[in-house]
Amino acid sequence: MAAQSPRALSSATIPHEARFAAHLVEFVQRFGSDSAGAGEVRLFFAPGRVNLMGAHLDYNGGPVMPMAIDRGTFLALRPRSDGQMRIATSFEETEALLDLDDLCGGAAPLAEGCWWDYSVGVLLALNAGADGGIDCSRGFDLYYGGDLPIGAGLSSSASVSLVTGAALNAHFGLGLSVEDAIDAALWAERNFVGVMCGIMDPFAVGFAKPGSVLLLDCRDRSWEHVEIDADKYIVGIIDTMVRRELAKGEFNLRVAQCAEAFSVLSKHAPDAAFLSEVPLEVLCDHEADLQADVAKRARHVIEETLRTYEARDALKLGDVAAFGCAMFDAHESLRDLYDVSIDELNTIVEFARSQESVLGARLTGAGFGGCVAVILRAGAEEPFREAVTAAYAAKHKNEPRVAFYRGSPGLGEVAL
Ligand code: GLA
Repeated sequence: MAAQSPRALSSATIPHEARFAAHLVEFVQRFGSDSAGAGEVRLFFAPGRVNLMGAHLDYNGGPVMPMAIDRGTFLALRPRSDGQMRIATSFEETEALLDLDDLCGGAAPLAEGCWWDYSVGVLLALNAGADGGIDCSRGFDLYYGGDLPIGAGLSSSASVSLVTGAALNAHFGLGLSVEDAIDAALWAERNFVGVMCGIMDPFAVGFAKPGSVLLLDCRDRSWEHVEIDADKYIVGIIDTMVRRELAKGEFNLRVAQCAEAFSVLSKHAPDAAFLSEVPLEVLCDHEADLQADVAKRARHVIEETLRTYEARDALKLGDVAAFGCAMFDAHESLRDLYDVSIDELNTIVEFARSQESVLGARLTGAGFGGCVAVILRAGAEEPFREAVTAAYAAKHKNEPRVAFYRGSPGLGEVAL
């Protein structure tokens, strides 16, 4: 894949919709209508994403195949006449009022363990990247909302970070590209919030295209869109509603285990720059040098890489059935080798496998709870929703949420 030239951050066109208007009404209810002459409200959108193939490969330099979805984060921004940053969300009552000079001028602040750490992290990254820093006298109110379930593995954090980057870019006139906003989001999540995530999520959010899967090579950041016939196939998400608090620690543990596997195996694979590039034969020959869990993680990464390349080739040929089979295989590997699945996710995938209308299914996101992604034949949505809900209810106490997606309107400012 060829490297892409930078894309202007403000280039997405997003149609006005009733839900955006409702967000503006909420903004005024929360912050009042008086802007003290500081400026008008502007509205921004960033989608969520579902990853279809390439699970836990991004931080191992492998290929990933996410698709942005038509749900996401809304962010209203209104300038203030002081140097304060006020942050609130429709999801909870707590809000923050922070001084831009304190944040950007003095000693580097620490994350507070709050949801607005993402916003502050992006602000700090943009301040560090701007010539002479941002103008701290130009405060603003931020009001977040949207229709993306939080913590469900649909990349709510990358969506929040990217929409913040888009809004602050517009407010401060920074002239950033999508890649710049992606880098700010990555810095915020890794260096401020403290999750050692890979590059997939912000790329999926930043380069959304309806009807297409993003094929991203995490070795060198090259990417291309691969179409999926939206008239014939539809992506469904079944949310188990299970949220795991331990996910951050478990995620970082997987990252560390992969690094350990690479440090041992790379001695026998001098051409490999990432774990995903270690040949399967090298793993087979030296598996005994690794601790049992570390060997399982390595096997998942190396086999999932090969599987994702095959799935990519199948999708390019329009063979969605073969692509779907690869999704089922990926789920088994996530369950048995990467140990990131849970009973609720397995119930849904096994049920989906028994349905003629389903081509593929697997857990999506980091795992430990969250959602299953399925590809099913268009038209089968409602019978599938009913059947999967009943099958799930027969085994588990909580009720799943089922939604269907057709691709995303992309990242950028909403024309009001
Ligand atoms: C989380 C991370 C991503 C990726 C997935 C697993 O969503 O944020 O970078 O590693 O898990 O594929």
